[in-house]
Amino acid sequence: MSVHLKQDKPDTSNRLDDMKQGVIGAPLPRVEGMAKVTGTAPYAAEYLVENCAEGVLVTSTITRGEVTRIDKDSVLSMPGVIAVIDDERLITRPAQGTANEAPQQKPKSVSYWGQPIALVVAETFEDARDAAKHLKVEYREDEGAPLSPDAVELEEQEGETVHQGDLAHAMAEAAHSVDVTFTTEGHSSAAMEPHAAIAQWDGERLTVHASLQMLNYNITELADAVGLDESKVRLISRFVGGGFGSKLGISEDVVSASLAAMQLCRPVRVVLSRQQVLQCIMRRSETTQRIRLAADENGRLTGFGHEALVSNLPGESFAEPVLQSSHFLYAGQNRELMLKLARIHRMTAGSVRAPGEAVGMPALEGAMDVLAHEIGIDPVELRLRNIPEDNPEEGLPFSSHKLAECLRQGAEAFGWDHGPRKPRHTREGEWWVGTGMASAARVHNVGEARARVTLKADGTALVETDMTDIGTGTYTILAQIAGEMFGLDPGKVLVDLGDTRHPRGSGSGGSWGAASVGSAVYVACTALREELARRAGIAEDKLDLSNGRTQTGQTLSQLLDGQDMAREGHYEPGDIASDFTASGFGAFFAQVRVNRFTGETRVDRMLGAFGFGRVLNHKTARSQCIGGITWSIGAALTEALEFDPRDGHLVNCDLAEYHVPVNRDVPDLEVLMVEERDPAASPIQAKGIGELGMCGGAAAIGNAIFDASGARIFDYPMTPDRVLAAMPAD
Ligand code: MOS
Repeated sequence: MSVHLKQDKPDTSNRLDDMKQGVIGAPLPRVEGMAKVTGTAPYAAEYLVENCAEGVLVTSTITRGEVTRIDKDSVLSMPGVIAVIDDERLITRPAQGTANEAPQQKPKSVSYWGQPIALVVAETFEDARDAAKHLKVEYREDEGAPLSPDAVELEEQEGETVHQGDLAHAMAEAAHSVDVTFTTEGHSSAAMEPHAAIAQWDGERLTVHASLQMLNYNITELADAVGLDESKVRLISRFVGGGFGSKLGISEDVVSASLAAMQLCRPVRVVLSRQQVLQCIMRRSETTQRIRLAADENGRLTGFGHEALVSNLPGESFAEPVLQSSHFLYAGQNRELMLKLARIHRMTAGSVRAPGEAVGMPALEGAMDVLAHEIGIDPVELRLRNIPEDNPEEGLPFSSHKLAECLRQGAEAFGWDHGPRKPRHTREGEWWVGTGMASAARVHNVGEARARVTLKADGTALVETDMTDIGTGTYTILAQIAGEMFGLDPGKVLVDLGDTRHPRGSGSGGSWGAASVGSAVYVACTALREELARRAGIAEDKLDLSNGRTQTGQTLSQLLDGQDMAREGHYEPGDIASDFTASGFGAFFAQVRVNRFTGETRVDRMLGAFGFGRVLNHKTARSQCIGGITWSIGAALTEALEFDPRDGHLVNCDLAEYHVPVNRDVPDLEVLMVEERDPAASPIQAKGIGELGMCGGAAAIGNAIFDASGARIFDYPMTPDRVLAAMPAD
């Protein structure tokens, strides 16, 4: 039986707070933690499948043009080689998040260096890799593919454009103003687990173990790509070693393994190399962002401008939504916002953790720091003075808003005690020491989700949905929600995820997972509680369940009387999504030291204070915040995709050359959760937290570099060469 909740109104009943088990919010360790650390949680490539052939992808060595000939004979006689798959469907990939849309690239056409064009299948991985290196491919190459945004006409993204009032006039009249341009470079999701798939075909049905975030639409993408009905396709992603956007859509590993398995009638495994993951899966676009801020004598914004330039391949619909939070974070009635897209031939640009704010917020918050110094007020105070009552563009109310609390509590906990001061106030040996801060904001996303919850006759519970847990804690928080609703120890709730045989969940992405699928579980549990209440002869809102019993001492097993009882919860955000502006908010504080001779920056300590609705599990939520702050450190100091200007190929395509922060780069991080109930965010009053921790943090570090050394830098990452170049003479 399916129970549908379309949420049109805020839910202020906060029912979860009335429950008696007391496990919601508890810092429980991940239920799958032991399996992961003992190596018994299988990742996509690790399933033991008999007679499995191995596939290795061959990638393009031209930037733009056409594959004219693939000389299969050049490798078919090599040891162990079984086949070369060059089906044109392999080089056509559905655009991210657009299931059912026609493939974006023309058959056999190449649009970037490193694009997968064929799959070599052999008995062993080594044989396949050897043959892949020897495969002879002929191309017709188009000269002059534009590789840099300067070289092309820009497309305005009209949905992002705002002209409100007269910003130029506000700038001219302002007591204080800044007009600055920041740049950020491309980023990689750089998930630990490479993209991988094992496909099995029984002549009628296709079963694929893969590493994916969004099974609910990945199944549609795959069915379309290989020409099967969805009912003949099963996708399984039980454990995912990080996705960060790169596994939102299916990629060539999944399509090529499936095509090969169907063609050869035997299982085929395809695992991308680290280099291939970086080269051809997804990039975050580089950005150029002009920010204009106009303020009165008291630091109140009268004008706000944010224009951004991003890039993508021709034909792709995604444009890094840089302005997402800029639309509502700060006041200022005269506004100009614009997003422009350049069509260039680098690999596909798509969602990389916190698409939009991850790069938009560091630029905006860097500009706010410049303004605070210009005016001569404390940067915390400048933010506090500019928190708008309602969304300054659409006039919508905020669903809940904890920016001020995060700024105040974060400043207090960090020991923030300065207004603007002259840089270079503190030197320790050869290091300048300073502090900086920034606001955090990340829109709250929530989506449709389904989950089936079964109360078992033995008094345990089962939760089933095709939802994925990409390392965030989904297994655990769903067990907590059901445990709380039924008065059960979460250990008695079995959560079964990552299989398209189950009801369609929300998938994991955009920080929407917990609120969306958590609400579907909540809806199912509420319906089951109603039936339990009826049987117990107690009104549902009076029914107290704890440790498997009602307040009158009846056990769940007694109420179930030998029969399992199941409900499918179906949650959908209704008017709520358009009646409110919903966002997570926060504040970052950082202390850094900058070497006066080498320009090297080390982060000494960092604190993030975040408000994101109900905290479902204090341990997993804190881990998400720590992960986010760690990404901030990478964005501030080291992470940048480097493209060869001659052919657009990615040069630093491994983790030795693409520098994500490692243990030595990450100091003790402090996380402060400013807990709240957001009645309009979801029926469980929770908002997203996965990405908020990196939305602005890079600016806290950049602003601290200025406070320490006097180097004001407008280009992320702030590598030693850039710091040295910007450092004033001693
Ligand atoms: Mo996310 S970058 O939407 O997985």
